[in-house]
Amino acid sequence: MPLLRSAFIALSTNQTLRRFSESSSAGRKLSSRFVAGLEVEDALRTAERLNKQGMTVTLDSLGESVSTEAEAYQAAEIYHRLLDAIAAQHLSANISVKLTQMGLELSPDLAYTIAAGLTEHARATGNFVRIDMEGSHLTQVTLDLVQHLHAREDYRGHIGIVIQAYLYRSEADIQQLIANGIRVRLCKGAYQEQPSVAFPKKTDTDTNYVRLAGILLSSPIYHGLATHDEAMIEAAKSFAANRGIGADHFEFQMLYGVRRDLQRRLVREGYNVRVYVPFGREWYPYFMRRLAERPANVFFLARNLLR
Ligand code: FDA
Repeated sequence: MPLLRSAFIALSTNQTLRRFSESSSAGRKLSSRFVAGLEVEDALRTAERLNKQGMTVTLDSLGESVSTEAEAYQAAEIYHRLLDAIAAQHLSANISVKLTQMGLELSPDLAYTIAAGLTEHARATGNFVRIDMEGSHLTQVTLDLVQHLHAREDYRGHIGIVIQAYLYRSEADIQQLIANGIRVRLCKGAYQEQPSVAFPKKTDTDTNYVRLAGILLSSPIYHGLATHDEAMIEAAKSFAANRGIGADHFEFQMLYGVRRDLQRRLVREGYNVRVYVPFGREWYPYFMRRLAERPANVFFLARNLLR
């Protein structure tokens, strides 16, 4: 399986296959299991449907590093449209934003200005911006940006961050974020990292995840636990139950199309569930990373396609 995983990660950066897939209808059909569609309207329709099933949503307009300032502003414009539409349609949804898509690698000041604009818009519409976490070379700059914006009195509670359990530094980061009252989404971490910064063994990441989830649940802030791993979910549930922490004090978060059975079951059990809904024309790298996470998905998709 590790071979297949590496193959999909390599394919996820293949530009020829990407151009072909993103422009073909077969490619779009395949990706629809994990990607809500190409347009803002597709994402909003999906959010409405999930809301009706008792789940909240976070919307991700697909796309990563941009190469010009104009592209960064164009990417931000889609999020501004989403914030307006969420308010107009009374959806239970917020937005998830990657700082590289907002120009972080061109200029941290540009990303800061754009993120501030989105947070201002979220404040004005009573909403929330989640800043996704990317590779470890961007961890500190991402933390600095979020802490700086959150320190503005009127932005408190309108911006939050993601912490990755595979990084050694994460416990210290979480303590700092809790001290500042910042909402955290805890995930295992999705990037290729060196053993100098991240646990090379998955079991160590899992142990750290459970420990960090306990720290988050014990804090007075509403956090998100992002995982499809039933062992992590069971550990969080029993930690909360043993300490009298109510199910309304936190939420589980999962990706669109992944473990839908588990998503529905948690809702039935009375837990808050938020679904991360990606959409947009640049779906190929995201889609390939989902296949890399679980190569068995390829057989599942092939079967569906043949049907
Ligand atoms: P793990 O990979 O151990 O999988 C546990 C089980 O879940 C598997 O055995 C399988 O049953 C199921 N599963 C997992 N992935 C699947 C898939 N693709 N298809 C089908 N089943 C699957 N990462 C990051 O670095 N920065 C970020 O900002 C975010 N944001 C984020 C938001 C949300 C809502 C989620 C759910 C995840 C992220 N991630 C992320 C990704 C995260 O770091 C991680 O790579 C994936 O969630 C996979 O890890 P699991 O915790 O699901 O466990």
